[in-house]
Amino acid sequence: MVSDQEIEKAAEILRKGGLVAFTTETVYGLGADASNPAAIRKMFAAKGRPADHPVIVHVAGTSDLKHWAADVPRAAWLLAEKFWPGPLTMVLKRAARVSDLITGGQDTVGLRVPSHPVAQQLLKAFGGGIAAPSANRFGRLSPTTAQDVREELGDAVDLVLDGGPCDVGIESTIVDLTHETPAILRPGRISAQQIADALLAQLGESAVGRPRVSGSLESHYAPGLPLKIVHPDEIDNYVRARAGTPVAVLSRRSRPRDSKATLWQVAPELPDDYARLLYSTLRRLDVSGCRLIIVEALPALPEWTAIRDRLGRAATPDPVAAPVTARR
Ligand code: TXA
Ligand code: MG
Repeated sequence: MVSDQEIEKAAEILRKGGLVAFTTETVYGLGADASNPAAIRKMFAAKGRPADHPVIVHVAGTSDLKHWAADVPRAAWLLAEKFWPGPLTMVLKRAARVSDLITGGQDTVGLRVPSHPVAQQLLKAFGGGIAAPSANRFGRLSPTTAQDVREELGDAVDLVLDGGPCDVGIESTIVDLTHETPAILRPGRISAQQIADALLAQLGESAVGRPRVSGSLESHYAPGLPLKIVHPDEIDNYVRARAGTPVAVLSRRSRPRDSKATLWQVAPELPDDYARLLYSTLRRLDVSGCRLIIVEALPALPEWTAIRDRLGRAATPDPVAAPVTARR
């Protein structure tokens, strides 16, 4: 648990331009004072993240929306009412005061009111907005425990508030409200259907014809080992074909008696439980001594969309499938 004194100390570090990692319900965030450009630069440096990537501003409550966003549409108030505090980030037109460092030079800003008590207490004690990407090194898996953060960032972070393991386990849903039709930029625990229902509106296509979250274009959330997604019925053959390579399998099925896998990790049956454990499991498999991670392909159903999205990014592309131009 985190004491009031620790929260106060963390708020003081933020006021002085330092970096505080903190628990949210999704993943751990690496926080910096959103109004302090020097602090934000320090945060980018700690992550090793390119400075043109926009970062989410975390605020204590819905009333802070107007401070950071301009021309807030009715849809934003509806979604805030329904899903905040919680694992939803809204992309809105930026207010003039928002630093280019936060928006990545775009005219929009991502805002979120997290629900985790540690995040809430920190935001209230600090009193301002906290710019916070996931507290991992650029391109790596998001941390879901304080220990993960320490391993990722070490001394680069001034304080880690340890509110225990994250409940959601994958990053927030991001919805873009800056166009006529809202669109999901990153799927998460809050589904596209829930958002469409709350708005009584159809959502636009996010993957096609609309600029996507910059971070979502490249491989992201990746473990260190190569990861392959394999149809459940093919896993056995896939492992046999790689005899001599120590392979770790992540599957919802129990280990077949004659499996040649070095390590067989049984994953939870239900999507919320699967998501909660996903990153910590991949981190563990990464250091298991195996040379390859095989993840069982998951059903193409809405409740698995966010997890399939993360696994898709973590997966190592097949060299054969790579576009010809990429090889030059
Ligand atoms: O659950 C979460 O959202 C976590 C916790 C810490 O709140 N944060 C998180 O931040 O995942 P980060 O920086 O790792 O991912 C945020 C994503 C990035 O891909 C970034 O490009 C996108 O949000 N983003 C931020 N502001 C944006 C904007 N104005 N327009 C489009 N995308 C934006
Ligand atoms: Mg991230």
